[in-house]
Amino acid sequence: MSSVRVLSDSRSLSAAAADVILREIEEVLGRRQRFSIVLSGGSTPRETYGFLASGRRRTRVDWSRVEFFWGDERCVPTEHPESNYALAWQSLLSRVPHLPDKVHRIEVEAGAEGAAERYDALIRGAGLGVGRVPRFDLVLLGMGADGHVASLFPGDPVLEERVRLAMGVRAPVEPVERVTLTLPAINAARHVLFLVQGTVKARAAARVLGPPSERAESGGLPASRVRPTSARLTWLLDTEAAAGLQI
Ligand code: 6PG
Repeated sequence: MSSVRVLSDSRSLSAAAADVILREIEEVLGRRQRFSIVLSGGSTPRETYGFLASGRRRTRVDWSRVEFFWGDERCVPTEHPESNYALAWQSLLSRVPHLPDKVHRIEVEAGAEGAAERYDALIRGAGLGVGRVPRFDLVLLGMGADGHVASLFPGDPVLEERVRLAMGVRAPVEPVERVTLTLPAINAARHVLFLVQGTVKARAAARVLGPPSERAESGGLPASRVRPTSARLTWLLDTEAAAGLQI
C-alpha cells in the first residue's frame, strides 16, 4: 500500500516525517521487543533527525529498543562532513539514549568491498525476521535529482543484484567510493519512507509518481524500483518537489 503526502515546506515535511517514524516505532514496540530502522544519508533527513531528538518527540519512545542501520555510506572517515554516520550521530544518536551495540555503522575503513561483505553478514545475522531476506521495520530514503536512492544510481549494474544485501559501488558524484543496500534489502522492508524536498527533485519525482505521460520508461529510475513487496511505501514531499505531480 503506498501513500503520497505533500507538505507546505521543508520544516513541515521534517516534522511530518518525524511523526511518521515515531508512530511506526510506537506501533511496533507495542507488540515486539525491538525496532529496526535504516537511516538515510544526504542533507534532507538532518532536520527530521533533529525533531526526533528534541522535546516531546525525544521521550515518546524507548530508544534503547531501536536498532540503527544505514542505507548507504560514503568511504570517508566517521568525522568527515560527508559521512552519513556523522550526520546521524550529530543530529540524532548523540542526543537520544540509544544502546551503542544497536548502532550498526557501515565500517567503510575496511574499503568498500570488505565493508559491504561485513555489512551484508551483519544484517543477515541481526535476527531481522525469518526467510531468505531480512526485513527491516522501516527504511528511510532520500532521492537524488537523478532519481537515485541510497547509493543506487541510474544505470549501475548493482540495480540488478538479486542476492547480496549490500555492495560496494563507485558513485558518479563525490565521494565516489561507497557502500549501499541493494534493492532486495530495501524492498524486503515492512515500510519504506521517502523524504523528498526542493525544486531540484521535481522532475525525478514526476517521473516516479507523476501521471503516466510523465513516468520514466519501464525499468525507470532507481527510485521507481523501490516497491516493497506486501509492505507500505510512504512518500513525503514538499510543494516544490511535488510541483510536477497532479495531487
Ligand atoms: C546519500 C544518500 C542519498 C540521498 C540523496 C538525496 O548518501 O547521498 O543516501 O541517496 O538520500 O542523494 O540527498 P539530499 O537529501 O542531500 O538531497
